[in-house]
Amino acid sequence: MNSSDPRKPRLAVLISGGGTNLQAMLDRSAAGTLDAEIAVVLSDNPEAFGLKRAERAGIPALHIDYKISAQSPVKQAERFVDLADLDRRQKIIKNPDPSERLARLARLVLAERELALRIEAFRPDYVCLAGFMRLLSPYFIGHMNHEGPKIINIHPALLPAFPGRSGYEDTFQYGCKWGGVTVHFVDEGEDTGPIIAQAVYPVWPGEDIEKIRNRGLSLEYEVYSQVINWLAAGHVAIKRGPGGRPRVEITDPDYAAIVAGWVRKAL
Ligand code: GAR
Repeated sequence: MNSSDPRKPRLAVLISGGGTNLQAMLDRSAAGTLDAEIAVVLSDNPEAFGLKRAERAGIPALHIDYKISAQSPVKQAERFVDLADLDRRQKIIKNPDPSERLARLARLVLAERELALRIEAFRPDYVCLAGFMRLLSPYFIGHMNHEGPKIINIHPALLPAFPGRSGYEDTFQYGCKWGGVTVHFVDEGEDTGPIIAQAVYPVWPGEDIEKIRNRGLSLEYEVYSQVINWLAAGHVAIKRGPGGRPRVEITDPDYAAIVAGWVRKAL
């Protein structure tokens, strides 16, 4: 990897666990096939093995503590955000008791402020969620996206089916005959942002969840790196449809061949 190449976008990669997607990016970066520089890896989980993978590759690896024990978190958060307004816009904390909901939101915002400050110190062009198991509030998303969409996520299902934390389990339990993986921009809903790329894999009779997960994960590695390369090459165009919902179109002339390659690989 040429870490001083000014043309390569810089990535902040967020993880919570094993980090095999991160490893796939690191491997491609070392092999010169990822057109981006991984500037920093951050995790909400100090034990995440992905942090070790980053350290081994000589990349800064940071833990962000989400267990905020601040006294009066609402007061603290209100120093830099209008919490009542944020509460009206947010869709992720559903606690019906308003004061408990505000306190949870405040604690989330305090953790996200730390996350945002740490990320910004590395001046990334994109924030890549790779098995990051936290929902992001509109505070963090707005903070990161002020110059356009910047946060992307890999999801282990064919969205909009099966949002949430158990994409492979849901695919298996529903008896789907095809599963899929999705890379999308992150918006204020749960796995609802504009879809950038998807790939599918067959579920053969008699297979178990582990077979499915492994087949899906190997596609995740391909699709995520390809999306990063498309972003680096300026091949990700965001268009507004008649309903106002942003839609992504990939402008790479090799798009069909690349997608055909994913299908062949999955079969
Ligand atoms: C991946 O399957 C990723 O798609 C999923 O977590 C796994 C992380 O694996 N993400 C989500 O479910 C997000 N909702 P990894 O740590 O080995 O890359």
